[in-house]
Amino acid sequence: MKTKFTELFGIQYPVVLSGMSKVAVPKLVAAVSNAGGLGILATGPLSGDETRAAIREIRSLTDKPFGIGVTLIMPGAVENAQIGLEEKVPVINFSLGKGDWIAEQAHAYGGKVIATVVNERHAMAAQRHGADAVFATGYEAAAHGGPVTSMVLIPSIVDAVDIPVIGAGGFADGRGLVAALALGAQGIAMGSRFSITQESPIHDNTKQTVIGNAIEDTFITEKLDGMDCRVMKSPAAEKMDKASINLMAALKNSFKVSKSLGVPWVKVAVGALITGPEKVMQLARSANASEALDLAIKQGDVVNGVHLVGQVQGRLKDTPTVAEVMQRVIEEAESVKSGFS
Ligand SMILES: Cc1cc2nc3c(=O)[nH]c(=O)nc-3n(C[C@H](O)[C@H](O)[C@H](O)COP(=O)(O)O)c2cc1C
Repeated sequence: MKTKFTELFGIQYPVVLSGMSKVAVPKLVAAVSNAGGLGILATGPLSGDETRAAIREIRSLTDKPFGIGVTLIMPGAVENAQIGLEEKVPVINFSLGKGDWIAEQAHAYGGKVIATVVNERHAMAAQRHGADAVFATGYEAAAHGGPVTSMVLIPSIVDAVDIPVIGAGGFADGRGLVAALALGAQGIAMGSRFSITQESPIHDNTKQTVIGNAIEDTFITEKLDGMDCRVMKSPAAEKMDKASINLMAALKNSFKVSKSLGVPWVKVAVGALITGPEKVMQLARSANASEALDLAIKQGDVVNGVHLVGQVQGRLKDTPTVAEVMQRVIEEAESVKSGFS
């Protein structure tokens, strides 16, 4: 299945694995790229050395195009982007920041850049700054979707820019792919669907809980990391949403986070102080979030842990392999398209 996006990025199918901290790891990234899509490594929780090692691991598992994702406001993200550029990663996906320098350097070696956006203004800025495509992330999405649903957001962004738009948020099957194409997108990115596959590192208990949930079993909270973030309904998530921030726990966890990222804590803290009290609170919340997310992802503890998932969880009924997901999506999309007269 060809679109402007597949042609430009040299991939077989217009289907992308969204960057997901602790979930979009080399094995899952390579599986999506090997299945004909575009896998994107989440570098958020990785130090510079870990990012380089993960890029090299992906290269040992696939010779197909893949990408890395960097959330530019997070500590360590600029360094991770620089490592991606040094390693000449085929695709760099940036969000929450100005990525003109990434585009310039990636283009110099033939790489491509995708910006994640949630509104037309940011999409136009990303295009001006050299992005080759944008992910338009709608309200349905796990984690940081925008305030507008994919149904309205995608055509609005398609009309605002000339570069390919990839719809993200609420996509899990071939019907969704055809719907996105009908709205003017050139492909889809899926997080929740690929997070519930055989190759995903998420604990089986959490995968089974997601499969048992309904489309209504998510909500948006800013208490996880200081930004509006869609999470799975769980006792811990609902408690967190009501609680005020535990600064002592945040202080303790921030040491762990800075250590795991290889960024000196003082640098992280001073940076947060310079950027203002809101950023300090955001850092504090992110520090606490990491542990809560680990409980659900690594230990399958959906009572005390917090898990990121989109509304589309209610449509996930099994745990297929990545190749099976891709085959189903493409076959269903072709069948839906052939039904149009
Ligand atoms: C388990 C999981 C972890 C995620 N982690 C992050 C993250 O760390 N940062 C981020 O910006 N988005 C994260 N996302 C959101 C995805 O990048 C993507 O925008 C979203 O999953 C798309 O919507 P969908 O879930 O409906 O497919 C995560 C999503 C899931 C399901």
